[in-house]
Amino acid sequence: MDWVCAGEGDAVIRLGYPMKSKIPAILLALAVWPSAFAADATAPAPSQTSASAPMANTTQVATPAPAATGLMAPPSAGLPAYPAIVRQETPAEHDARLKWFREARFGLFIHWGVYSALGGSWQGKPVTAEWIMNRAKISVADYKAQAKNFTADKYDPKAWAQLAKDAGMKYIVITAKHHEGFTLYDSAYSDWNAVKASGAGRDLLQPLADAARAQGLKFGLYYSQSQDWVNPGGSKGAVPPWDPAQAGDFDTYLAKVSLPQVREILEKYHPDYLWWDTEYQMTPERARPFFELVNTYPNLITNSRLGGGVLGDVRTSEQKANIPTSSLGRPMEVCMTVNNSWAYNTSDTNWKSVHQLIQTLSHVASRGGNFLLDIGPTAEGVIPQPEVDRLLAMGRWLKINGEAIYATEGGPYANPPPWGRTTQKARTDGGTTLYLQVWDWPADGKLLLPGITQMPTSGRLLAGGAAVTFTLTDSGLMVSLPGAAPDPDVSVVALEFAGPVKIAEATAAPATPGAPGWTESRAQAVGGNATAKPAGTAVP
Ligand code: GLC
Repeated sequence: MDWVCAGEGDAVIRLGYPMKSKIPAILLALAVWPSAFAADATAPAPSQTSASAPMANTTQVATPAPAATGLMAPPSAGLPAYPAIVRQETPAEHDARLKWFREARFGLFIHWGVYSALGGSWQGKPVTAEWIMNRAKISVADYKAQAKNFTADKYDPKAWAQLAKDAGMKYIVITAKHHEGFTLYDSAYSDWNAVKASGAGRDLLQPLADAARAQGLKFGLYYSQSQDWVNPGGSKGAVPPWDPAQAGDFDTYLAKVSLPQVREILEKYHPDYLWWDTEYQMTPERARPFFELVNTYPNLITNSRLGGGVLGDVRTSEQKANIPTSSLGRPMEVCMTVNNSWAYNTSDTNWKSVHQLIQTLSHVASRGGNFLLDIGPTAEGVIPQPEVDRLLAMGRWLKINGEAIYATEGGPYANPPPWGRTTQKARTDGGTTLYLQVWDWPADGKLLLPGITQMPTSGRLLAGGAAVTFTLTDSGLMVSLPGAAPDPDVSVVALEFAGPVKIAEATAAPATPGAPGWTESRAQAVGGNATAKPAGTAVP
């Protein structure tokens, strides 16, 4: 195998690619280098089809390059940056592996564990839901005693999968193990699990994996590889241990619990997507066995939070939707809560509106990303009704407008037009469908598409199919809309073009908060501004 060193300016990347076949992937990475390096904080990863068998010998870990000259994995808050490590594959293999993920656009995130039994409250005081053990410094013994209340008595995995399906979601990611260290399945490497230690007394993952796949959904597992507040030796994040029972060696923990459990969940549940979380203490040496393990699954997708310089396949952003569209060639995924809590929290009733959520989905899709929307079921397995209601409303919108979301690419505007967002889809005949996602329906029915100098061949509303008309003006394409907005949240117009849609240069400035289209209310509608804290590292 030849080792490649490709450079651009002072950005140099050293990867374990065989020179001839793999170099395009490096060039791809370098092509997106400037934006990626500027703002990336987390990344997601690829997945696999359910039944694929492990394949040996597919990995080659990058030779660590000197920090001063090497392409570095984007640093996470307060953690060191490391030379970038990527999976060895051709661009064609990469595209095939990520195809379903790029087309999915909308997924369900589920935070469920012993913390669900506490509902964000300890000794009468509100404490951050799934971080409750760490924040309230609950002893291991006291925390373990809560597990009897994690009963899953009303858990209906088929109904959960049905809800995801009805919401128009294409994949599910559930916490196989969160930072509390408790697994939702029976592990051979720790008895701190749903079968041996909790009121549930049974495996909770397989029935959901089955139900999801029966609905045609992809199945993903969240696994906290570094933090574990109960099994001895696990990382405590940014704080020291608070109970002598937590004492232990981190490397022993990784070797005896974390890595074997990851192998276990890959073998038992064949997830399509593995969702790492928090990179505390993950050096390149520590990340390497995890990286090599997941790379033996040829279809598996992973996110960007393993740490130690491993880029992963999907760049993950937390609670913030206005982030760079792409980083090092990886698709982005914006995960977000329906209220302000990842897990069940009785005192958090700050539910986002359907309007906000649909506009966030529209915004994320317009930037070519996926929206992973989180719910926090109770310890019995009941999904709070405000979450159910909002998911179903999104599903109703997607039934009519899904064509403008699924399997689309981000719109041609780097800077969104003031009236909304755009997505686009290449047609097999070489033409393009441009979707205008109208957030603010113009009172005079006139919608300007700045910088477009091509005439569409036709145009229609997705709701009802009414035709729209258009004319070319000096400022761009003017679309005349019929009547009132068909949808109070986002109304979609599909315009057909004979070829690719081009935007005249002057209008293609980079999007920044404060630029046209970025009013404060819009920033809030999509979950905040661009100064997001790095995801996956800082505590919520
Ligand atoms: C953060 C939190 C965690 C949550 C995750 C979701 O990293 O530590 O509680 O699961 O974000 O993105």
